[in-house]
Amino acid sequence: MDAVTAEQKYNFDVVRWFVVMAVVYLVVGALVGVYIASELAWPFLNFDSPYLSFGRLRPLHTNAVIFAFGGCVLMATAFYSVQRTCGVRLWSDKMAWFTFWGWNLIIVSAVLTLPLGITQGKEYAELEWPIDIAIAVVWLSYFFNFVMTIANRKTSHIYVSNWFFLGMMVMITYLHVVNSLAIPVGLFKSYSIFASVQDAMIQWWWGHNAVGFYLTAGFLGIMYYFVPKQANRPVYSYRLSVIHFWALMFGYVWLGAHHLQYTALPDWTGSLGAAVSLAMIIPSWGGAVNGMMTLSGAWDKLRTDYVLRFLIMSLAFYAMSTFEGPVMSIKTVNALSHYTDWTIGHVHSGALGWVALVAVGAIYHMIPRIFHTEIFSVKLVNIHFWTATIGTVIYIVAMWVSGIMQGLMWRAYDEYGTLAYTFAESVEAMHPYYAMRSVGGAIFLLGAVIMLVNVIMTVLKSVSDGSLRSARTATASA
Ligand code: HEM
Ligand code: HEM
Repeated sequence: MDAVTAEQKYNFDVVRWFVVMAVVYLVVGALVGVYIASELAWPFLNFDSPYLSFGRLRPLHTNAVIFAFGGCVLMATAFYSVQRTCGVRLWSDKMAWFTFWGWNLIIVSAVLTLPLGITQGKEYAELEWPIDIAIAVVWLSYFFNFVMTIANRKTSHIYVSNWFFLGMMVMITYLHVVNSLAIPVGLFKSYSIFASVQDAMIQWWWGHNAVGFYLTAGFLGIMYYFVPKQANRPVYSYRLSVIHFWALMFGYVWLGAHHLQYTALPDWTGSLGAAVSLAMIIPSWGGAVNGMMTLSGAWDKLRTDYVLRFLIMSLAFYAMSTFEGPVMSIKTVNALSHYTDWTIGHVHSGALGWVALVAVGAIYHMIPRIFHTEIFSVKLVNIHFWTATIGTVIYIVAMWVSGIMQGLMWRAYDEYGTLAYTFAESVEAMHPYYAMRSVGGAIFLLGAVIMLVNVIMTVLKSVSDGSLRSARTATASA
C-alpha cells in the first residue's frame, strides 16, 4: 500500500472549518467589544434601543469571545494536536462534524436570544436551559471523540498537551452541568435550583473555573503543543510541565470564593480562596517560565519568526495576569479593586494578552500546514502582532488607571466624614479612560480584521492554485 500523506491520514477538514470560524468570531467578538466600550464612553450609542443597550450586548460580547472564538480555537487545536501527537486519525469523523455544527448552532442561538433579553442572568452561563442541554451534549461529543482518539493512539505515552485538554474537558463538563441545574417554567425561562448564597457560591465556582480550566488549562494545552513546535525544540522541562498540570488541576477548583469577598458567604471561604490564589502564582509562573525557556538557545528566532512572537508575548501576559489575579484576591486589595475597572483590566490582560495572542499564534502555525501553502502575507502577520500588542497595552493601562481612580474616589472622605465625591463625579472622571479603551480596542480589532483578510486570501490561494486538492490526492514519497 502506498504511504499516505498527513492530509490523508488525519482529519484536517474539520480543523480547517473550526480555524476559519474562530477567526470570524474573533472579529465579531472584538467588534461588539469595541461597540460596548464606546457605549460606556459615549452613551448616545445605546440609541434608546433595548436591543443595542449595553446590558444586552455585554453578554453577547462575552459569549462571542469566550464560547464562539475560544471554543472554536480549543476545538481546532485539540483536534489538530491530538491526531499529531497520537499518530492516528480522529476516532470519528462524523462525531467531529456533529461537534462543529452543534457548536456553531449554539452560537447562533446565543446571538438570537441574548439581544432579545432571554437570559438566566448568571455570568458566563447566561444561555437558557434548552441551549444549556445542547452545550452539554455537544461538549460531550468533543470530549468523547478526543478520549477515543487517545485510546487508539500509536504512541506509547500521552503527550502533556493532551493532559491539559483532558483536564479542561472533564472539569468543564461537571462545572457546566452543576451550575446550569434549573427548573424550567417555559421554553425560554428557568430558575436555578440553588438559592441565595449557595447560588452565588456555585455560580462563582463555575465562573472562576471557566477562567481556570476553559481560558487557562485549555490554552495551556495549546501552549505546550504549539510553542515547542513553532520553536522546533523540545519543551524546556517535561517534568515541570507535569507538575504544572497537577498543581493547576488541584488548585484552581478552590478559588471561586475570591470573587465574593465581603459578601454573605462565610468569611473563611474568602480567606481560603485568597490563600490558594496566592499559592497559584507558583505553578502559573513555573508554566510560563517553562514555555519561555523552551526557546533557550534559540532566542534569535524571535527576530524573524512572527508567529513565535505571538506565542512568547502571550506567555509574558500569562505571567502578568497570574501575578495580578492572586494579588487582587487578597481581601484588602479586593476591597479597593472589586466593582472597579481594575477587574476589567485584569480580565483583558488575561483575555487579550494571553488567550487571544496564544490562540492567534497557534492559528498562524496551523494555517500553512492545513491549507498546504505559504501564508498569503508574512508582513500582515507582523502588522497584526504590533496592532494586537499595542491595542492590548492601551486597553489594560486605561483600565488600571481608571479602576484605581474609581476605587480611591469611592472611598475618599472629607474632614466631616462624608464622601468626598459623588458617584456621578467618579463616572465623569472615567470618561477619558473609556475613550482610550475604545481606541485600544479598535487597534486590536484592526489587527483581527487584518488576520481575517490574510486567512481568507491564504484559503483562496490554496484553492485556486490547487495546493489543497493535490495534498488530498498526492501519494507520499516516503
Ligand atoms: C477589541 C477587543 C475588546 C474590547 C474593546 C473589549 C471590551 C469589553 C468591555 C467594554 C467589557 C465590559 C466592561 C464592563 O462591564 O465595564 C468587556 C467585558 C469582558 N470581556 Fe472584553 N473586549 C475585547 C476583547 C475581549 C476578548 C478577546 C476576550 C476573551 C478572550 C474578552 C473577554 C471579556 C470578559 C470575560 C468580560 C467580562 C469581564 C467581567 O465581567 O469582569 N474581551 N470587554
Ligand atoms: C492564578 C491566576 C489567577 C488568579 C488567582 C485570579 C484572580 C482573580 C481575582 C481575585 C479576580 C477579581 C474578583 C473580583 O473582585 O470580583 C479575578 C477576576 C477575573 N479574572 Fe482572574 N485570576 C487569575 C488569572 C486569570 C487569567 C489568566 C484570566 C484570563 C484568561 C483571568 C480572567 C478573569 C476574569 C474573566 C475575571 C472577571 C470575573 C468577573 O467578575 O466576571 N484571570 N481574577
